Amino acid sequence: MTSPILALKGVNVTFGGLRALDDVHLEVFPGQVVGLIGPNGAGKTTLFNVMSGFVTPESGSIAWEGELIQFPKPDQLIKRGIARTLQGVGLFSDLTCVENVMVALTHKSRTGMLSAMFGTFDRDEAKLRIRAMEALEFCGAAELAKSKPSDLAFPLLKRVSLARALVTEPKLLLLDEPAGGLGAEDLRWLVEIIKSLSCAVLLVEHHMDVVMAVSEKIYVLDFGQVIASGAPEQVRQDPGVIAAYLGAAA
Ligand SMILES: Nc1ncnc2c1ncn2[C@@H]1O[C@H](COP(=O)(O)OP(=O)(O)OP(=O)(O)O)[C@@H](O)[C@H]1O
Ligand SMILES: [Mg+2]
Repeated sequence: MTSPILALKGVNVTFGGLRALDDVHLEVFPGQVVGLIGPNGAGKTTLFNVMSGFVTPESGSIAWEGELIQFPKPDQLIKRGIARTLQGVGLFSDLTCVENVMVALTHKSRTGMLSAMFGTFDRDEAKLRIRAMEALEFCGAAELAKSKPSDLAFPLLKRVSLARALVTEPKLLLLDEPAGGLGAEDLRWLVEIIKSLSCAVLLVEHHMDVVMAVSEKIYVLDFGQVIASGAPEQVRQDPGVIAAYLGAAA
């Protein structure tokens, strides 16, 4: 059996007196799509932020590719092979879509600075542009390359922001509510594209149909604790999970 690409153990996060994550253990294997669900306020975004480097836990450990590491800082993610899309999309409004995707690549390598020194900038830029176009095309957004984000509807921005994450060829892709704001047709696109990825995915999502369709394994958080984990069917029938959602609805 292969070993996990990501293993979180005993992760605790508190905000003031509130325990947002309580002794969370979670594993993601290479190429696996892992769903993270739970009622509002369960701690999903907090866990996502721990992985993205926006929140540092009080205690707990993180192993990346079998090696214990410090919890990553945001600027270390791409070098580790971790990419993420943000809920608010977060594209640069002054740049075209293809330039937005290219920016992610300049973060990965030091191409920008070195090529400026050695005068190879134009050639490198052409290469970056080709890779960025491939990523846009993969996300069904090639025709948006020259548009500015402000000219595009939200579902199209989501495609561009996914292209920006994928162009770095991550080993792990973190997605926070990618289905939010999408209509039926875009939801089908999202499911298909997630299924087609070869990298591991950690998916925070409220949209149950999407989570159930793409996840190999699902973790359920409630009040910061993992109350269930397993295959989608198993989790769906778990009495504790049903109670947590019914309790939240009430
Ligand atoms: N920066 C913060 N300061 C104080 N409390 C916070 C902070 N971030 C989150 N919390 C609290 O921590 C708990 C977990 O919040 P979190 O945003 O992780 O939940 P969630 O599962 O993502 O919820 P939702 O489904 O509504 O997005 C909540 O009670 C929330 O109010
Ligand atoms: Mg959230």
